[in-house]
This record gives sequence, C-alpha cells and structure tokens, in this order.
Amino acid sequence: MNYHIVTYGCQMNVHESEKIAGILREKGYEKQSPLEEADIVVFNTCCIRENAENHAFGNIGALKKLKKQKKHLIVAVGGCMAQEEGKAQLLREKFPFIDIVFGTHNLAKLGEYVERKKTNKKAVVEIVPEREGTEDGISPVRTSYPNAWVNIMYGCNNFCSYCIVPYVRGRERSRRAEDILAEARALVQEGYKEITLLGQNVNSYNGDGRGGMSFAQLLDAVASIEGEFRLRFMTSHPKDFNEDVAAVMQKHAKICRLLHLPVQSGSNRILSLMNRRYTREKYLSEIALLKRYMPDCEVTTDLIVGFPTETEEEFEETLSLVKEVGFASAFTFVYSPRTGTKAAQMEGQIPEEVQKDRIMRLVALVNAQTREKSAQYIGTTVEILCEDYDEKKHFYIGRDCYGRMGYFQSETNRVGEFVMLRVTKANGISLYGNAEEKRG
Ligand code: SAH
Ligand code: SF4
Ligand code: F3S
Repeated sequence: MNYHIVTYGCQMNVHESEKIAGILREKGYEKQSPLEEADIVVFNTCCIRENAENHAFGNIGALKKLKKQKKHLIVAVGGCMAQEEGKAQLLREKFPFIDIVFGTHNLAKLGEYVERKKTNKKAVVEIVPEREGTEDGISPVRTSYPNAWVNIMYGCNNFCSYCIVPYVRGRERSRRAEDILAEARALVQEGYKEITLLGQNVNSYNGDGRGGMSFAQLLDAVASIEGEFRLRFMTSHPKDFNEDVAAVMQKHAKICRLLHLPVQSGSNRILSLMNRRYTREKYLSEIALLKRYMPDCEVTTDLIVGFPTETEEEFEETLSLVKEVGFASAFTFVYSPRTGTKAAQMEGQIPEEVQKDRIMRLVALVNAQTREKSAQYIGTTVEILCEDYDEKKHFYIGRDCYGRMGYFQSETNRVGEFVMLRVTKANGISLYGNAEEKRG
C-alpha cells in the first residue's frame, strides 16, 4: 500500500511528517507515492498565517474527486490547523469525506486511528489538549539525509501577542538530555552528517526540569559526540539568548557559525506590543556579544511588517535595524491576525495597501543585502555539505555552514560528502562554482 503526505509550515512539521511516515510504514503503507496512487493521504497542516490555512483548505478540497473514484482511500488531516479551536469540526463540515482528524499532541496515535477507521468505517475525530510525556517511540522515516532533525522540546510558553503556536502546540516540555543524546549518537553512527536540534525556543530548554541540563550544556554534549557532522539549532529567542551558548558555539568547530535569531521588529514600542520582552538595544548587544566570540558568525532572522498600530517611522526602524545588523538572510512576513491571539483584538489594524508597500520595501532591502553578502564569496572557497543531486543537469546542491546554497557540476554521487567549493558566481543565497577537494 502507498502513502502520500502533504506538509505545510515549519521544520518541526517537516520532521513530524517523517514521524507520520514512520507510523504509516508500521501499518503496512510501505511506499511513498504520488497523490493519485496513494491509499492514504495525510495533510500535516500549519496555521501560523492565514495563507498557510487557505493553502491547506484548497488542497484538501481538491481531493473530493479522487476520494469519489477511489472509495478505499483514507484521508487524514492533522497538525497545527487541526489542533486550532473549532477547526476539527469545521474541517469535517466543509469536507465530509475526511476520514481522520488528529492534532499535534496525539500524532503518535495515528496508527490506532487508521485501524479504527478501517474496522468500523466511521470517521475518527480526536483532538487532545496536551501531549503525554516527551517520548513518542516512533521511528521516523527520515527524508532529508544527510541532515537529521532532532526535537529537543515541544510547545511554547511565550505567547507573543501575534502568535498562535502556544495555543496549538501547548506548554513547553523539554525532552530528557539522555534521550536526545542517544538519538543524536545513533544518527551519527548511521552516517548522518548534519543534526539540527529543534524547538520553538531552544534557549529555554531545561532538561527534565529537575535540575537538568541547560541548552548550552546540551549543545556542548551533542557537539562532543565523536564523528564528522555539523550541528545546527533553531529557534533561539532573543529574550533568553546568552553568553553560555555563544561560548559553546565558539568551543566546537562542529557547530555552524550561524544563529537564527528572530527579531520581528526594530521598534521598541512594537516589540513591547508584540510581548517579545527585549528591546532593540538588547538585541543589538546580543549580536555584538556573538561577534565578540565568533567574528565570522552570521545571523539570520524573521521580520513582521504591518503589526497593529505600526507607524511609518516604526517600520523605518525595522529597516534601519536590518541595515545595522547586516543579516545573512531573513524571512519576511506580513502580519496576519490569528483568532484567539491578543494582537487580533488590537485596534489599529494596518490597511492591506500599507502592509504591501512595507513588505515590498523590506524585501528589496533584505534581498539587496543578501546579494551583497553572496558577492563577497566570489573567489573564496567554502565547505559545502552535498544534500541533493539534479540528475538532468548533473548538478550537486549543498549548503555551507552559513546557510548559503552551493551548486557545482559532478558526475559521481557525492550526497553526504563535504566538498570544498571554489565560488565563481553568486546569485541571491546561491553560490556556484567548482568542487576542489574532499575534506580531511
Ligand atoms: N518560535 C519561533 C518562530 C515560530 S513562527 C520564534 O519565536 O522565533 C516563525 C515566524 O513566523 C515567527 O518568527 C514570526 O516572524 C512569524 N509569525 C508568527 N506569527 C505570525 C503572524 N500572526 N503573522 C505574521 N507572521 C507571523
Ligand atoms: Fe510564537 Fe513567540 Fe512562541 Fe515563537 S516564541 S512560537 S513567535 S509565541
Ligand atoms: Fe510550525 Fe505552523 Fe505549527 S509554523 S508550529 S506548523 S503553526
């Protein structure tokens, strides 16, 4: 039997889709297939912005015809959108052909739900308010070799006023350090060359909560695992980023010289309305600290424009912050009101045309900076970890430690290898060149 999973949203969700694939394999769905050939289709949804939801609604709706032709096809919808209050019912009303709705906390039970659906034919709609424990016992079907994602914590306690994540992912729960370390060790032994530690706010990792490891200690322990691999982590929150983490990064060459530190806005008034609990000045002092430890460290970020009441001057403070920090790259978003969050009820929502104007100006600035940074690579040599191969063009695609994409021509299979790339051309975050030699 075949399965097809459609994933929306962040890396956390991408990794959870790997877990979903693991569960489906155990239930006899052995092969990943195109949609038309699938016996089960799972939508792993996201609700961070309205367009993420619209996208999922459109794709689920489009399945109606296939479901009519193929009676045995099982359609399951899970993830953050399904976990949103009232959404499970809405989904079933809008698309009565959905067989299973499950949330973020009970993903591990999907296998059981599939069985239930098959035996008594009735739709299964199950949403639970909190996750039980931190170990789900699932062996994921990893899809991103040579990279492997490892959850270090679930949920979020921060309640940034615009954000729905704390409502759909529940309270923060850290996994035990020994469980994380065992998983990471096994991955290195299996030959994974890059490990990315995942959490909504990795800096508030607190072991098992009873005097367990801090994030800096955990990072140190994972980086101390023997073997050749790179280590990344995301996401860090500026309110909790600290010197200990910078010191551990400096200590280990394995840890990428890259920090994803979402700033959201350059205006202190907006940051306070967003409930981010840091100021522009604190953010800048953290960047300075990081550069003191590692002058070559790059920073990437997330930015939101058009938050309620944001004035032109406040938006310009975001532009000036982008110039001041010189981000290696940035994800830019138009503020999207999310039902149930504080910001959605604030007065002074910004008109769409003003939001559009601001996002265009911000994107132009970010892109210009990214291009400028990439141009500085020309003539230098960077280490690329090969991740993918374009069969037609015999092109290898990899990434450097700073998140830049690297492309080079090669006839042999080099996925999973570290390659030195002599950069001859740059475009956006992409670098092109020739492979020079193998590392080590
Ligand atoms: N936990 C991470 C990010 C989670 S969501 C953190 O705290 O940084 C990823 C990004 O989506 C956020 O950093 C933010 O920039 C953006 N985002 C979240 N909610 C949003 C909303 N309602 N409208 C627009 N962008 C949003
Ligand atoms: Fe959302 Fe803020 Fe939590 Fe990030 S830290 S997930 S932006 S509430
Ligand atoms: Fe991720 Fe979207 Fe959920 S960004 S945590 S999948 S709301």
